Amino acid sequence: MRVLFVCLGNICRSPTAEGVFRQRLQKVGLDAHVLVDSAGTGDWHVGKAPDRRTTLAAQQRNYDLSTLRARQFAVEDFSRFDLILAMDHSNLRNLQALRPDTATAELDLFLRRYQLELDEVPDPYYGGADGFEQVLDLIEQASDALLAEVRGRL
Ligand code: 4NP
Repeated sequence: MRVLFVCLGNICRSPTAEGVFRQRLQKVGLDAHVLVDSAGTGDWHVGKAPDRRTTLAAQQRNYDLSTLRARQFAVEDFSRFDLILAMDHSNLRNLQALRPDTATAELDLFLRRYQLELDEVPDPYYGGADGFEQVLDLIEQASDALLAEVRGRL
């Protein structure tokens, strides 16, 4: 199974989701069975490591995002992945506009899929430190639900 997380810049929310979900998979020995990646709909940060605030907040919870590098979402991702999970409604709209008729991937909002109290992971980029903690809180909850789904599907 192949899962892709998508946000706007691929330096805050989707790399966090990639790191958290990969760690969840490693803990239960499923990392060899599930391909995990992340991408941004925008191209401003391509090639860059995650935002420093994201890396530090993640590190405090023992997630290592240091080797990740931003890339832009490509139309081919619709056939490279089985499940594409967008962080907010704007990301989802951007992806829907790019989606070819031949797309095989399922496209959804990450939090809404698991009926958490929020539909979206709010963009923390222009806010304070609290925003980065909230990103981690929401992504940890949704990753547990995604892990349960993936275990059922494998
Ligand atoms: P992300 O956050 O989509 O969670 O990676 C952002 C990163 C950069 C920008 C916006 C959001 N930006 O405008 O550069």
